[in-house]
Amino acid sequence: MPRRVASDDAGIREAAACIRGGGVAAFPTETVYGLGASTLAPDALRKVYELKGRPSDNPLIAHVVDAVDAKMLVAEWDRRCNRLAAAFWPGPLTLILPRGDMVPDEAVAGLSSIAVRSPMHPVARSLLYAVDGPVSAPSANRSGHVSPTTAEHVMADFAGVEDLLVLEGGRAGFGIESTVLDLTGEVPVIRRPGSVTADALRRIVGTVEVAHAVQQGASPGTSLIHYAPDVPATMVPTVRLAVFLASMREPAAVLAMPGTEVREPHVVIRMQPDAEGYARMLYAGLREAEATGLSQIVIEEPSGRDGVWLAVLDRLRRATVR
Ligand code: TXA
Ligand code: MG
Repeated sequence: MPRRVASDDAGIREAAACIRGGGVAAFPTETVYGLGASTLAPDALRKVYELKGRPSDNPLIAHVVDAVDAKMLVAEWDRRCNRLAAAFWPGPLTLILPRGDMVPDEAVAGLSSIAVRSPMHPVARSLLYAVDGPVSAPSANRSGHVSPTTAEHVMADFAGVEDLLVLEGGRAGFGIESTVLDLTGEVPVIRRPGSVTADALRRIVGTVEVAHAVQQGASPGTSLIHYAPDVPATMVPTVRLAVFLASMREPAAVLAMPGTEVREPHVVIRMQPDAEGYARMLYAGLREAEATGLSQIVIEEPSGRDGVWLAVLDRLRRATVR
């Protein structure tokens, strides 16, 4: 088992010493837990890829305390960056910018750009201050599996790993990964939707485009099959749900909206009616569905289509594509 440590002073110091010494430590952020290593330590970064089973062409996000530290990792930082950082940092927004000279290939999968974000979770911030340098971290799940929103989720995904420290930090408040905004071109492009919405970004920088999942070669990790639970999951609109469930040969775990009737032998997992609440419990809900041991997951398609619902639907589509 990995070793789980409390996020008191001693725990933070230990995790920071681990990362400073070229090790890997998992830590909480406001979005999902991350699997962190020093951005400047190629061997440690290779270990992150190895632990996750992550394809080596999928770049990492560098976590920094603030814009001052972000600037050290990038080759260009313009007025748009200043405005975005002032509006959304610390918080769940990742910026993709031309990569600076000090960044090793291993931190960005050899790309000429780097993704940077300043997390707002107090434990993540304490850790970054203690490390006193940038920490690159993908979500702390097995590659391709559901992202972790609690320390238990991380422990479960890396159950066989001894040489890993997991910093405890409770349940992630946002629950889905950060919005990834590509600023390497003239017009900012959302590569991955998240809790910072397109409209919120437009209020700060004007025109913002949204990339479609299928054309996302520019953000390798956003390929369609991703974030998937271990058993097949199907998304079904509310109007067809009752008939769909009645026609199933085996019982399923059903992620349903409040008020939707789900009859036995199916097992219901109740979701929240609002987008933020749904996002917060989405990955925990999918993992709970897996834990029922049933052979299928059915997800009642939420009817919301704006704001954070776009990010929720993006994750649900990925979880249900096979
Ligand atoms: O909320 C989050 O962003 C979490 C927490 C831990 O910070 N991290 C996270 O990391 O979700 P990961 O590795 O699971 O997803 C990072 C995404 C991937 O889709 C990756 O392809 C994209 O960001 N990305 C990273 N660097 C990039 C770059 N230089 N150019 C384009 N896309 C990049
Ligand atoms: Mg991930």
